[in-house]
Amino acid sequence: MSSTKTRVTSVSTRDKHFHLLEGETLLEGLERTGHEVEYQCRSGYCGMCRMTLIQGNVTYESLPLAFVGPSEVLPCCCTLETPVTVDCGLRSDLDSQYELFREDLLDDPRHDQA
Ligand code: FES
Repeated sequence: MSSTKTRVTSVSTRDKHFHLLEGETLLEGLERTGHEVEYQCRSGYCGMCRMTLIQGNVTYESLPLAFVGPSEVLPCCCTLETPVTVDCGLRSDLDSQYELFREDLLDDPRHDQA
């Protein structure tokens, strides 16, 4: 008997709501949707991607070497346990027309799993 766990993909930021794509990390999802993110190692070592977790819960496949406070998240290596809200905003250099187009793609109901 196998148990199939539905992957939680729902992400909210200061500026928008979107869903992670199949196999995408939270960091990759934030980048894809035009958010301002910092990173270096992309694997839990440096702590550069650390951001505030406003709401929700995440877990880590293996304990990251970088320090993570109780209200923080490392988006490069976490797995969403619940829909999350993170303290992250859009890049200021993106064109507004481009953002409107991207918004249409992000509201694809096929990704509405959580
Ligand atoms: S980019 Fe280094 S811990 Fe996330």
